[in-house]
Parts: sequence; structure tokens; C-alpha cells
Amino acid sequence: MRAEYDKLTECDYSVNGGDFLNMTSKKLYLVNGPNLNLLGKREPDTYGKSRLEDVVRLVQNTAEEKGYDVIHFQSNHEGDLVDCIQKAGEEAEGIILNPAAYTHTSVAIRDAISAIAPPVIEVHISNVHRRESFRHQSFTAPVCDGQVVGFGVDGYRLATLGLIERIEEGRNKNE
Ligand code: DQA
Repeated sequence: MRAEYDKLTECDYSVNGGDFLNMTSKKLYLVNGPNLNLLGKREPDTYGKSRLEDVVRLVQNTAEEKGYDVIHFQSNHEGDLVDCIQKAGEEAEGIILNPAAYTHTSVAIRDAISAIAPPVIEVHISNVHRRESFRHQSFTAPVCDGQVVGFGVDGYRLATLGLIERIEEGRNKNE
């Protein structure tokens, strides 16, 4: 588990090629929960053929056009996701979050979202409302600022645009 923890504390800066010095001060976190590391291979009829790295690139390209950098983190472990959300609370302007199966079970992730100030947009690749009834309940959605569901991986792009709009609105109000 040590490796996981190291990964967490560092988060995963590989999106920016490790080029931290060139990062602007405007950071978004992209946080993906359990089994999303298997995107592309996992139930492609439900989740499509794109891989997680394609999703990261999509979010990165969308965010970069608007002047934001992206830090990506994926974990299969609930506590690591909580730690990452807390870290994002300190340094991110906003979070795009797919809590995956923890959506339907995790009070800890819900509490982490409630504990931080930056806006959080929840994403689900599949239309969870068309699936098994246990997927209809989200512990996390009520404490998020928005939810994008059922648009496939393009939902991540839509969430990024919506999140940035929300952030910029907030900035404009405070100016
Ligand atoms: C998911 C939907 C969840 O119900 C499921 O457990 C996932 C992926 C989605 O993106 O559609 O792992 O969050």
C-alpha cells in the first residue's frame, strides 16, 4: 500500500509531463474511483472503449484551452480518494469526480466533499438511472455542485466546461 500512498501524496502530475514549473496557478483535480483504471477493457458495452488515459487527455485539453492545468488521480481505495479530495480542497479551483462504485456507498467521500470549499462536479459515464436500482442512489451528488450522467466519456468534457464556468462566475462575483 505504500506505493499507493506515495502516489497519493504526489498525486499524479504526469498529465503535465511533470513540468510543474510551467503550471499556472489555476488547477483542476480529476479524481477517478475504483475500477476506472480498467476503462476500455471493462464492460465496454456499458463504459465504452476509451481508456483512462484518453479521458485524462480529454479533460486536460478542455481545461488547457481555458487556462487551467489538470492533476489526475485514480484509486481503488476509499481512504486514498478521501485524502486526495482533502488535498484538492487546499489547492484546486475545482474537482471533476467520478467516485464510481463509492458513489452508492461512501459516507466518507461525501463528508470529504462537504468539508472542502472548491466546487465539485460528479460524473458517471453510464446512465446510472437506467441501471440496477442500487445505482440510482448517490451519497455524493447532494453535496456536489452538479452532476453529468450518461454521456459516455464525453461527460468528463462537459463536466470540465461546466465546472470552469462555475469557477469563473464565482471569480467575477468576487471582483
Ligand atoms: C460509474 C457508475 C457506477 O455505478 C459504477 O460502479 C462505476 C462507474 C460510471 O461512470 O458510470 O464504476 O460511476
